[in-house]
Amino acid sequence: MSELTAGGDADRRQASNAGLFFRRWMANPLQMGSIIPSSPSLCRRIAALVERAADEVVLELGAGTGVVSRALLAAGVPAERLVVVEIVPAMAEHLRAVMPGVQVICGDAFALERALPAHWHGRVGTAICGIPLVLLPLAQQRRFVAAVEAVAPGRGFLLYTYCVTSPLPHGKLGLRARREAWTPLNFPPASVWRYQPRR
Ligand SMILES: C[S@@+](CC[C@H](N)C(=O)[O-])C[C@H]1O[C@@H](n2cnc3c(N)ncnc32)[C@H](O)[C@@H]1O
Repeated sequence: MSELTAGGDADRRQASNAGLFFRRWMANPLQMGSIIPSSPSLCRRIAALVERAADEVVLELGAGTGVVSRALLAAGVPAERLVVVEIVPAMAEHLRAVMPGVQVICGDAFALERALPAHWHGRVGTAICGIPLVLLPLAQQRRFVAAVEAVAPGRGFLLYTYCVTSPLPHGKLGLRARREAWTPLNFPPASVWRYQPRR
């Protein structure tokens, strides 16, 4: 395939991604939390923070149109070791179409114990959260933390956000928090936080 054709395909894919994202934002702004997908710069920074043993998976929660997922694949996560969870059926369908080999679960990240196949429980290297947790009440945030802990005990999760300070009240949630990356090349500029259970 020529570079010209490849560029054209990439441009068309990006435009259709952005269109789907924007339509979902119009339908449910709180669930989407953002008007456009994360930038390539942010996606690369997230992918660089992933830790995984050979027999573990990367679990992405709130995959949207798959921009972070594709950065994970580009960074070397094998497709069969990437599990993504997306609550919107049209987006899950899109993810299945554009990322063959990746396990796409159309389900609720707050009910991971049910949504994630049992053979992956306890075998999650890194969980990544794209869900706008900062917009949720504390009780919902607690439910999310418990849901991740149920399938990835002791691991915690990465959360990307536009907040400069911790988007989660980590003390109240029993978590340690560390800001591990920041990029101005996102709209708006974004940080990546790592949260882990306090022992
Ligand atoms: C801010 S977007 C992030 C999309 C993409 N990862 C990116 O970086 O552009 C949040 C995504 O989380 C999804 N989402 C929201 N609540 C969810 C839930 N409870 N379970 C799974 N996905 C959820 C939304 O449908 C949306 O696709």
